[in-house]
Amino acid sequence: MKNAILTLPLICIGCAICGCNAPSPYNKDALEYSEPHRPQFHFSPKEKWMNDPNGMFFYEGEYHLFYQFYPDSNVWGPMHWGHAVSKDLTHWEHLPIALYPDSLGYIFSGSAVVDWKNTSGLGHGASGQPPIVAIFTYHDMEAEKAGRSDYQCQGIAFSHDKGRTWTKYEENPVLPNLKQIRDFRDPKVRWDERSEQWVMALAAYDHIQFWSSSDLKKWRHLSDFGKEWGVHGGVWECPDLFPVLVEGTNDTRWVLLVSINPGGPNGGSATQYFVGDFDGQHFKLDDSFEPLVRDEKAIWLDYGRDNYAGVTWSDIPNDDGRRLFMGWMSNWDYATVVPTAVWRSAMTLPRVLTLNKTSAGYRVFSHPVETLKQLRTTTRRLGPIEITGTLDLTKTIGFSPSQMELMLEFEVDPGTAVDFGVELSNAKGERYRIGCNAGTALYSSDRTQSGEVAFSDKFANTVHTAPRVSADKNIRLHLFFDVSSAELFADNGATALTDIFFPSENFSTIKIYAENGKVKLAKGEAHALKRIWR
Ligand code: FRU
Repeated sequence: MKNAILTLPLICIGCAICGCNAPSPYNKDALEYSEPHRPQFHFSPKEKWMNDPNGMFFYEGEYHLFYQFYPDSNVWGPMHWGHAVSKDLTHWEHLPIALYPDSLGYIFSGSAVVDWKNTSGLGHGASGQPPIVAIFTYHDMEAEKAGRSDYQCQGIAFSHDKGRTWTKYEENPVLPNLKQIRDFRDPKVRWDERSEQWVMALAAYDHIQFWSSSDLKKWRHLSDFGKEWGVHGGVWECPDLFPVLVEGTNDTRWVLLVSINPGGPNGGSATQYFVGDFDGQHFKLDDSFEPLVRDEKAIWLDYGRDNYAGVTWSDIPNDDGRRLFMGWMSNWDYATVVPTAVWRSAMTLPRVLTLNKTSAGYRVFSHPVETLKQLRTTTRRLGPIEITGTLDLTKTIGFSPSQMELMLEFEVDPGTAVDFGVELSNAKGERYRIGCNAGTALYSSDRTQSGEVAFSDKFANTVHTAPRVSADKNIRLHLFFDVSSAELFADNGATALTDIFFPSENFSTIKIYAENGKVKLAKGEAHALKRIWR
């Protein structure tokens, strides 16, 4: 900014000082986060390649987010842990890279915990602060190239300054790959109250292994889960195991998230889950959940194609109690070729996961975090109105539909097969549709004509669908559109669907469509959302 003042020419060519909004060649920040397709209220790195969220923990008022990061290119490469913090899960501050590759390998996905009792002995006596310990996978590229099978193992690093700087433990690896399992990665660690030990969930090719430790350094194999359950169309990755209260009861069940690539419900990567109990040693499926995941069947956390490798925050205080989740908003089918130049990929919105007993059995519901409401600026109320054909809402709403939140409640006559939903489009004739078919009880997301799609033949080859779980009479769509993404939380989060798209200019028209019948928009709210980058 100092430079901007010194070099300000007589004729203003744009700056933040005189109040004009033209981009300034002197103020690089003013240009950032304004590139085509750049999400405005989702986390994305300033530049270069990002994939999985890693090491999320909460400590002293800060939500930490680390992520798989390659600072030298916008395609995947030697993995580092990038780092950002937020006080409200909405605005993010970028921090320097936390973990760099070293002689043991690249730094793959993993988790971080606050070691409150200094069980690791890695604490700093004088500071009185508990150490933060990160547990991650080392991936040794040389060993892989040399044809060895033990190229993945687990290491730890610790921080004494609220996650700002990290020291790798000198006796790494703490969990070597003695059985030589080629896919042996993504440790997610939590303190288990019941058995009073650290428990790690670790992906091992086609199943999840559980390990325990008293000090985060020595690990003991507890049990395995999953070979015979769920979907196995691809390798299992990024597990997360946590207890959660069943909504409206005092019963606790355990949820095990497992990402899988490929094999997702609409192609490529996706996250399945299991509901059961964990006794400190074994994870056992709930009797009612077994039939749901028998014979290569899965229940998916999100049916869209762009919510992968998501896990939950550790160390959320008990009196808060939320189970906070974030995923990577892309898919290995095409992540490295999506048409963004400066950076590649964003995270999903942070979500609260709840476990609900529905008529179809236990289901994990996803809810956008409440703090996103602070981004709302203009609000428009919609309905009640009956719709057959299309209803153009662009003028009624009066702000850009490309950056908004929309909550719609529809009434559908029993027995109709109406296909209805929201359509975004632009002057180029590109369009994206997300909605519901009342006849098939399927939600759908159609990006087949959404603009730039030719970069991968796996990107726009199908319309994505998700089964409706709720038996409620009215159909409620809660939607977030952020330039190049749509997130649907249908029926209070019972069905989630996240998809990205790349229109060649921002979508500027919004319509409700109703084909094959009529629907009534009973009520609705549209909110313009401010961008999070200042
Ligand atoms: C999931 C994943 C992880 C691995 C990381 C590497 O997207 O494949 O299993 O640790 O990405 O970047």
